[in-house]
Amino acid sequence: MAPVSDLVWSVGRLTRDDRWETLGTRGATVWFTGLSGSGKSTLASAVEERLVASGRPAYRLDGDNIRSGLNIDLGFSPEGREENVRRVAEVALLFADAGLVALAALISPYAKGRRRARALHEEAGIRFVEVYVATPISVCAQRDPKGLYARASTGEISSFTGLDHPYEPPTDPDLVVGHHLPLAEAVDRVLEALGAAEATQTH
Ligand code: ADX
Repeated sequence: MAPVSDLVWSVGRLTRDDRWETLGTRGATVWFTGLSGSGKSTLASAVEERLVASGRPAYRLDGDNIRSGLNIDLGFSPEGREENVRRVAEVALLFADAGLVALAALISPYAKGRRRARALHEEAGIRFVEVYVATPISVCAQRDPKGLYARASTGEISSFTGLDHPYEPPTDPDLVVGHHLPLAEAVDRVLEALGAAEATQTH
């Protein structure tokens, strides 16, 4: 690996602001965190649909999907999850810089990793909205859409988040979405939070 000090960031002819203005877009990242089965992917997918329908490019970076390709080499140890979150934060930043709304839906169990993802965006002057999908584990386990809680409870899967692997709930998210909230209203709240974040944006 080349030391970062030996690298020189290549500055293009086009600035981010020019790209966004010419394309009529504004990049940002919305980061959905919560337990497996909490509804992150469902919410991110509905937000993506609404944004694109309104003419705003958006793209989901979903944990299961990214782990099937880019992050196929990573497991569920603390190091594997940390690296998963780090890479997705970097990819989200690139997407947002390009002008899309990146919708990252990852368990992202550690507060430190989520803080780093936010800091990375803030240092680059790109909006970052953290959404905590706060579905209790009892509800996630009952839903069990992928049958993973059942498999984890028999010991077939180990280090399962919320069972034998920790989840650190956000203490200061931009938005908390409870599981009783209808999906369309949850989408409204996410878009409001994104809009509020952008109202303070310097770009
Ligand atoms: S994270 O912890 O690294 O952020 P990520 O969101 O990418 O996790 O992947 C979680 C998904 O992987 C879950 O939704 C589930 O489908 C699957 N999975 C497989 N094994 C585990 C496990 N031990 N803990 C949590 N999720 C798991």
